[in-house]
Amino acid sequence: MTDAKRSLFAELVKDGLDEHEARWLVEEFAPRQNLDALRAAVTRRQAGEPIQYVIGHWPFRSLDLDVDPRVLIPRPESEELVGVALGELTRLDVGAPLIMDLGCGSGAIGLALVSELAQRGTVATLIAVDESSDALDVARQNARKHLVKGVSFVRSSWYENLDESLRGRVDLIVANPPYVGADEFEGLDPVLRHEPRDAIVAKDAEDLVGFEDVALIIEGAPAWLSPRGVLICEHSNVHRDGVLAAARTAGFVRCDDLDDMAGHPRILVARRP
Ligand SMILES: C[S@@+](CC[C@H](N)C(=O)[O-])C[C@H]1O[C@@H](n2cnc3c(N)ncnc32)[C@H](O)[C@@H]1O
Repeated sequence: MTDAKRSLFAELVKDGLDEHEARWLVEEFAPRQNLDALRAAVTRRQAGEPIQYVIGHWPFRSLDLDVDPRVLIPRPESEELVGVALGELTRLDVGAPLIMDLGCGSGAIGLALVSELAQRGTVATLIAVDESSDALDVARQNARKHLVKGVSFVRSSWYENLDESLRGRVDLIVANPPYVGADEFEGLDPVLRHEPRDAIVAKDAEDLVGFEDVALIIEGAPAWLSPRGVLICEHSNVHRDGVLAAARTAGFVRCDDLDDMAGHPRILVARRP
């Protein structure tokens, strides 16, 4: 850090900012000597806006994704999901996989997959689906930013508006749908209110709070998956029994539900027989 940056950093810490965040803000805004922008950013952060939106981008696996209040801030659990998905694709050993990312948001999961596959010499095709056109705009922007090729962006409520020709052809469906109940949301950290509510809150289903979107995704997946296709779906830590039961009802035979790094039930892996 230069002396000028160091003194700005010290000023921000004195003002009560966390040291990591003060460093990120100085690195983001000070190199351009844009002190007005730095002060505006500090004001936004001090008003409670997530640091990711204030900075405007955030790392997700190998990508630096643009993020703003139109999309959920990608979470570390979803980075783990990408790792699980890469393992399943290796096991499937499909030359040029067709992947569908349901509820793509910033594009995090699908774009990270395609870009890491490309680094391994595998050319994948991605259908990135979201019902929010704002989210699709951000996902498109991230695909352009990282020169990710072979992506189609589709506005659809889950499988509703998908091209019928995709039925039975998708090798991998990945999804991180909303899975928090409306009442539960009210009790969570208010910082979550900066993110799009529709990305977090889901209706209840089958007596399970916040389970409707997860249930719809599991129920609909077999019709779109190839005969050996796999669904990998992130879910709430209270939904383990629910996702496994829903997957069996949908006809999946070989199902696992994995814990995240914090030890919470989180990632359903449902394989077609
Ligand atoms: C939890 S966020 C996940 C975003 C991104 N995949 C990630 O992991 O960071 C859920 C996403 O699902 C989208 N979504 C919510 N309901 C949907 C629906 N019925 N059909 C399609 N997408 C939906 C939201 O707009 C949001 O982008």
